[in-house]
Amino acid sequence: MKNKILIIFSSIFFMLNSCSSEDNAAASNLETPIANAAKDVNDAGFKAKWNYVSKSQSYLLDVSISGDFTTFVENYNSKEVTDLNEIVVGLNGGTQYFYRVRAKNDSQISGYSNVISVITTGSSTIPEDPTFLKVKANKLANPFFVGMAVKADQLVNGSKYDAILKNEFSSISAEYEMKMNPISTASGVYNWTAADKIVAYGNANGINVHGHALVWHNAVPTWLTNFSGTDVQFAAEVKKYITDVVTHYAGKVKSWDVVNEAVDDNTGELRNTIFLQRMGPNYVKDCFQWARDAANAAGDKNLLLFYNDYATSTNIPKQNKMFSIIDDLKTSNLIDGVGYQMHNTYLNPTKIQIETDINRAVAKGLKIHISELDIQVNPTNDITSFTNERRLAQKEKYKEIVKIYNAIPAANKYALTIWGMKDDESWIPYSTDLNHVGNDWPLLYDSNFALKSAHTGFLEGLD
Ligand code: GLA
Repeated sequence: MKNKILIIFSSIFFMLNSCSSEDNAAASNLETPIANAAKDVNDAGFKAKWNYVSKSQSYLLDVSISGDFTTFVENYNSKEVTDLNEIVVGLNGGTQYFYRVRAKNDSQISGYSNVISVITTGSSTIPEDPTFLKVKANKLANPFFVGMAVKADQLVNGSKYDAILKNEFSSISAEYEMKMNPISTASGVYNWTAADKIVAYGNANGINVHGHALVWHNAVPTWLTNFSGTDVQFAAEVKKYITDVVTHYAGKVKSWDVVNEAVDDNTGELRNTIFLQRMGPNYVKDCFQWARDAANAAGDKNLLLFYNDYATSTNIPKQNKMFSIIDDLKTSNLIDGVGYQMHNTYLNPTKIQIETDINRAVAKGLKIHISELDIQVNPTNDITSFTNERRLAQKEKYKEIVKIYNAIPAANKYALTIWGMKDDESWIPYSTDLNHVGNDWPLLYDSNFALKSAHTGFLEGLD
């Protein structure tokens, strides 16, 4: 019945069109149809819809699980439909699909419509790819370390965490325990217990160890905050700390974040920290010099020194200031790489923003460390559970950043580090600075150690 109406309508349109002198010139070209949002979405399908195209007799519908239609859902590769909608069936739940249509008449086929994305309801039954991240990364023509942020008490031989860490990751960074406040308990007095455990674990298991971080304004020990000596004596304390720590781990730690987060978000100038106040604007360079001198004195000529910061892809004044610091360090041959923290969201930064930021460091011949990657799915606190839409959006964002990283030249690659293993261990849901306490799922594993689509996205980014 519907078909008959469509044919009658088509004929009327055809007659009207053939009477119009204006349209005669374009009479041999079929218009490109416009596809509309899907209706009646359920666990196993949806209704695909599109607009009528004059002179068409039917439409060719494509459905795919990839937005570039490299493969098609079975039976939906140019499926001929003589209506303006089609109920697509036999799909998986909780899965993202894409569709597009072309108009057709006897002799002609139009161009492709716009692409519509639709996510079926229910839970995905497609298993996540269980390939180990480092195994796939190591097979690349230009491999890089896949890193994980760890805490000393997680490193229990034989535990589930330990098995995943050894299987999947080739580098570790201490989430907290290699910062100044846990290590330095008083002037010249050190508590190495947790930091030593982390470094020894990496060394014993053939896992790269990245040191994070020598100088950070949020990890200043109380004794140094309250230091009553002169500014010169304050600087001497910082120098002693850097020297002692770099010496202690010489040959055991491959790289250090020397200074973390020195640039202010609002002014695009040096952040007004105790280090700036007490040591002056040359403090960043001094710290790098002391780290380099200590490594050389300890016989470690290969230690890589990084500057590490966040939000430089979206905050351009901040990015510019970071690169002016880097240029200054580079002139004195004191810096080897840039750490981009990348505490990102499913929306931001964009691909082009990240690429532009990273390529500035690539152009300077520096190593790139994506040093603290996590991807929030609830930055505006608009969801109360981890929805399919966000799960898939997060997957795409992980895939995107891994692709960006993998595309940089071999000489610039170092590591891409994920900031925690399980969602419930991430700092994100607990941060009171962020707007969604308790509600986020930013990592590659859920709280039961089950692989998330984010992990599959990471793997797909390596293709
Ligand atoms: C910053 C620091 C990290 C860590 C996170 C929160 O990004 O660089 O060391 O403290 O905050 O986990």
